[in-house]
Amino acid sequence: MATQKTWGGRFSGDTDDRVVRFTESISFDQRLYHEDITASQAHARMLAHVSLLTKDEADLIFAALNDIRGEIERGELEYSLKLEDIHTHIEQALIKRLGDVGRKLHTGRSRNDQVITDVKLWTRSAIDVIDLRLIDLQKSLLGCAQRHHELILPGYTHTQRAQPVLASHYLLAYIEKYQRDRERLADCRKRVNVLSLGTAALAGTSLPIDREFVRQQLGFDSIAANSLDVSSDRDFVVEFVFDLSLIALHLAGWAEEWILWSTTEFNFLELPDAFCTGSSMMPHKKNPDVLELIRGKSARVVASLQQLMLLVKGLPLAYNRDLQEDKEALFDAFDTVSASLELAAALIAGTNFRRDSIAARIEDGHLDATTLMEFFVKQGVPLRTAHEAVGKLIRQCEERKCRLIDLPAAAFDAVKAGVGGDVKNVLGVSNALAAFQSYGSTAPAEVAKQLEAWKKRLC
Ligand code: ARG
Repeated sequence: MATQKTWGGRFSGDTDDRVVRFTESISFDQRLYHEDITASQAHARMLAHVSLLTKDEADLIFAALNDIRGEIERGELEYSLKLEDIHTHIEQALIKRLGDVGRKLHTGRSRNDQVITDVKLWTRSAIDVIDLRLIDLQKSLLGCAQRHHELILPGYTHTQRAQPVLASHYLLAYIEKYQRDRERLADCRKRVNVLSLGTAALAGTSLPIDREFVRQQLGFDSIAANSLDVSSDRDFVVEFVFDLSLIALHLAGWAEEWILWSTTEFNFLELPDAFCTGSSMMPHKKNPDVLELIRGKSARVVASLQQLMLLVKGLPLAYNRDLQEDKEALFDAFDTVSASLELAAALIAGTNFRRDSIAARIEDGHLDATTLMEFFVKQGVPLRTAHEAVGKLIRQCEERKCRLIDLPAAAFDAVKAGVGGDVKNVLGVSNALAAFQSYGSTAPAEVAKQLEAWKKRLC
């Protein structure tokens, strides 16, 4: 086996089998085959461009790499732990086909800049996939917001009823969060889209390579300027997985909310059967397992972020083999968030709000109290005085077990003489909601504008 190694020259005898198993990465980095081949093809073209290969040699390499890609995609390439990683497998498959011409491909290149280029190409596509999934989720939320535009929900702070909100306002809140996630990804993509190839092992190369040529071939925006930096740089992996973590946390908070809202206690939501499971013992159960797993799997994503941050902590320049450990965390975080986003969008599309059940209890919890306080402010009562006065009115309601609107006019006149009759215009949840007017609030006219704007943006 020593003959197949790309670094066997200075070694005598075989590597210990335990070391082979301990150091391999082919079991997980085979996922980079496509990017590895694309980057190698660009590298070969560049080598011909600067006369380190002939045009014929580059053509042979280009075509053979396409063959190898086909072989891998058909599941025909045999993987061996002894060949360490995907880069070595592909290079060896090339040498098997082309002999000495194949042995020229690695000219002016190291696996250190090769692996990071592959991971950057992979991450760039991964960002684009997540972005599309985020758009799908936003569209699903928007569809739901349009279906339930007029529905009034209790808005919560501390999971206690606070003020009324339109269901559409509630759903648009998540669209905003996922929009920030998209912006963060777009920003991360800028740092991903910088060419690393051509920095070689750590110091560059004495060969006359043309990095600008490779940049153009691979569609990178710019070229990394410091070779030592490149071979140790995993910032973009950490950054991407942070962005994924925040998406996972946004999903987890929403999942928790909908798990609660689908309980008998809340009874706000009817989840689609296809996204729920039953109990092996209790025949009546319909469990929100998909939501629970979206919430639960966020732990893996955040754990991947922790793993990556610890991985790069204390690493001296430049490449260290530790860095091989970045890939499983990266792949797992991507797979988890990608699947969670896809399921979230589908689940939302199939969920119904139980309008009757929500309406039956919407007047509970004094959702109109704050609007009443602001009504008094409009009548010239200082805010702190109005706050105190409405607090006392609520106490009366609690004693009588009634709503604010059920109190006698005299109770309101006691706060501000002569308002007893008018006050009815802001009491009750519908009136309270209609009274909102500030930009970004749940005021129906404001929400309608936001809905319109998102429709234009997303559809
Ligand atoms: N499999 C290695 C990785 O993923 C490739 C780079 C190996 N470089 C080296 N100098 N041993 O990081």
